[in-house]
Amino acid sequence: MNLKILPAVLQSLLLLGSSNLAEALSVTNLGQGGRQRTGINSNWRFWRTEQNSDGIIYDYRPDLVDVENAVVLKPWILPSANDFIKDPANHYEVPSTSPPISNLSFVQASLDESDWEKVTLPHDWAIAGPFYTEDDPIVGGGMGRLPVHGVGWYRRELTISKQDLDGSIYLDIDGSMSYTMVWVNEKLIGGWPYGYASFRLDLTSHLKAGDNQLAIRLDNPPDSARWYPGAGLYRSVWITKVSKLHVGQWGTFITSRDVAVDSATLDLVVDVENTSDSDRKVDVSTNVYEVDAQTGKAGKKRVAAFPKKSIEVAKGEKTSTNSSVEVKNPRLWGPLPTQAPNLYVAVTIISIEGRVLDTYETTFGIRAITYDPDQGLLVNGEHVRIQGVNEHHDLGGIGAAFNLRAAERKLEILHELGVNAIRMSHNPPARELLELTDSMGFLVIDEIFDCWELGKTDGDFHLIFSDWHEADLRNFMRRDRNHASVIAWSFGNEVTEQHNGEEGAVLAYRLHDMVRDEDPTRPGTSSMNYAKPDMPFGHAMDILSINYQGSGIRDTPNYSNLQGIRTQPLYPAFHEAFPDKMILGSETASTISTRGTFMFPVTVNSGAPVNETSGGNSTTLQVSAYELYTANFGSPPDKVWMYDDKSPFVAGEFVWTGFDYIGEPTPYYDARSSYSGIIDLAGFKKDRFYLYQSRWRPDLPMAHIIPHWNWPNRVGDITPVHVFSTADEAELFVNGESQGRIQKDEFTYRFRWDEVKYEPGNVKVKTYKNGKKWIEETIRTTGAATKLRVTADRTTVDSTGEDLAYFTVEVIDKKGIVVPTADNTIQFSVSGPADIVATDNGNPADMNAFGSLERKAFSGLALAIVRTREGKTGNVIIKAEADGLQAAVIHLRVN
Ligand code: GAL
Repeated sequence: MNLKILPAVLQSLLLLGSSNLAEALSVTNLGQGGRQRTGINSNWRFWRTEQNSDGIIYDYRPDLVDVENAVVLKPWILPSANDFIKDPANHYEVPSTSPPISNLSFVQASLDESDWEKVTLPHDWAIAGPFYTEDDPIVGGGMGRLPVHGVGWYRRELTISKQDLDGSIYLDIDGSMSYTMVWVNEKLIGGWPYGYASFRLDLTSHLKAGDNQLAIRLDNPPDSARWYPGAGLYRSVWITKVSKLHVGQWGTFITSRDVAVDSATLDLVVDVENTSDSDRKVDVSTNVYEVDAQTGKAGKKRVAAFPKKSIEVAKGEKTSTNSSVEVKNPRLWGPLPTQAPNLYVAVTIISIEGRVLDTYETTFGIRAITYDPDQGLLVNGEHVRIQGVNEHHDLGGIGAAFNLRAAERKLEILHELGVNAIRMSHNPPARELLELTDSMGFLVIDEIFDCWELGKTDGDFHLIFSDWHEADLRNFMRRDRNHASVIAWSFGNEVTEQHNGEEGAVLAYRLHDMVRDEDPTRPGTSSMNYAKPDMPFGHAMDILSINYQGSGIRDTPNYSNLQGIRTQPLYPAFHEAFPDKMILGSETASTISTRGTFMFPVTVNSGAPVNETSGGNSTTLQVSAYELYTANFGSPPDKVWMYDDKSPFVAGEFVWTGFDYIGEPTPYYDARSSYSGIIDLAGFKKDRFYLYQSRWRPDLPMAHIIPHWNWPNRVGDITPVHVFSTADEAELFVNGESQGRIQKDEFTYRFRWDEVKYEPGNVKVKTYKNGKKWIEETIRTTGAATKLRVTADRTTVDSTGEDLAYFTVEVIDKKGIVVPTADNTIQFSVSGPADIVATDNGNPADMNAFGSLERKAFSGLALAIVRTREGKTGNVIIKAEADGLQAAVIHLRVN
């Protein structure tokens, strides 16, 4: 729901109505439209302990077996799931007694919290570090070596007016990691264990007029994930006040059908909730407006009105109403660059006798998607090849704490790369991220689980699967179902149940039934890295999401000495076995590299598993950026594309991954962050960026030469030169001498001159396309580093307290060329109304805490992330200094 959008036509409606009713339903203080949603991200106090010292737990689990005599609170938390469990017979009973805890100081208003930290949400308690650098730390490389574990308490006051209490008051938590339990005025009112869920608790009957004490307890196992999960109230928290007759939580669902150029039909479901103590008859009307792409606001012109419905809603119940309407000449939603992400907003009004009780907005898009087994994806009739990436939820140096600008910057960089699709691996993203993918025109596979009953780590979701999977799945889908960008639901990633034949498939069918029940319009899937065409698992899917198997796993000679599953390229076999299902590569490549780092010799093959003698260095924890080296089950991009091109029925791919992410630093678990990104953790482009761009933006004149040309110790040594380009022919020159003119053969995707001998100077490539000159590119041996240069992603930002600016520092020589090997230590400082919240350089092995103002350059670059202060405007000066180099200064305007 987008609160910015409130059409002027509402004004007139609000003036109608009977004051008696208004009193009865007490909506007068809820402002325009009868609904108030207020962020409560400020004024929190926070305290964390590594031990479970408060005597309570959600439930016993492997990391808590030693906690003695703890009070298990699970029975009081489970009923929070009930709204999302379809069969009332399976609802959890609300315990008739309060939990047996006495005198829990953390939840009492009298607690002296003066030594608790003051925090603003979204807050990730672990990102500040420090990183654990010892062997066998409590949180290892897999989870980013950051202190995510333990118990965190958050407290805040809520001031409520007497009038507010006549309506319903909800606490809406967008994301809290994890095992959340909520107390209001010393009463445990519920919670939600899964850290990626957005959920609502009804506070109404627990609040009093005046000040109320809110206390939230979170608890993270030290081994809850295969990546960095973050920790804390890491997404926004809201208070929603509504009248007692209102649209229920995520209570609208809009889908489009019969989509054509001149018309489309919209189907709408509205759930109306009555929390009053009498049965009511209400009118439900919904008007549709265009969203202006420039302003993000609703236009004045109503483009359609759903027929008004009058429905009875019994006290304490929810009632749904359906209606349909035709929209003439719809502006369709479709992905960039060939289509436009046009959006609409539906404004639903609940009223009685003309008196508006609630106004609820649903942003949606009108589009027709075909999942064609032979052609792939058709969006509004146009074939759109999926050029996708997988993304985890962290935002680099600022961690899991959601930030709109950080997310937008990622999408901007991905857009430049030519990405048109994102798989949200492997859990529900921030709500705002889907608003961005809607408005920026990306396709999305929305994914919820990395495991089901059978876990992958001791503390992951399998511990709570049986109690929570239905509630989590339905809750997630109801939250996200109106997003135009979402084209498919993924209810599992590489789940171990794939291995369990029929039994595993039975669970897949069961989950898929829930998916279909919640949304009959989009396909459901669960990614397969193991299940084969002749196994039952794939039959439970609407579309087939294949991880790695499409282009083969460990099937080429370079990988033959490795342990593990070995699979021939399976796209054709899947297509044959499932001729009626669309196939896509939900994870491909797992190529790994560190930006700007090159190692020799270079494999002569089209790809190789990284190891000590080939592409990797376990001492420096670096992987060569020739972009040929892979995780031991992976394939280089070149091989993935060959099998894509041989299998034109495949809808496309989602590369593992777009950006590096914190944790899972395959192959070096002493490091902090992954090597698989096309872009590094700081947001700097790896060389691989240009390889993907050469495929995904074929019309862009571009050529990128690797490696860099600063090799004082390699004079006369073989130093292969590869060029990533959209050209089909290229000639390479080293200091003016031709190294040969070559054409890209069928199924080759890079130009390689593997016999080049290094000599300092310049390397130039002249390229051609269709026989015509295309583009030239030159790289040079640089001089010594002499100064720093700073540039910013934006020079004007807003004083929201959330807006960010990203500053890139380059170490340059006297001609202004970036010195590709520079690793000078840079000291950042800032003056004015903004703060440096993180620095980074994209080096997965840099264990200097993100908050440090001192950062070594890595391959010539470093980054500082600056955040504004709420309500504080003015000029900000950012300075970067390094010993022996001329410093650089840049100004930022905060409006
Ligand atoms: C896949 C898995 C991803 C990630 C990747 C590492 O098997 O689904 O989550 O672990 O491997 O390269």
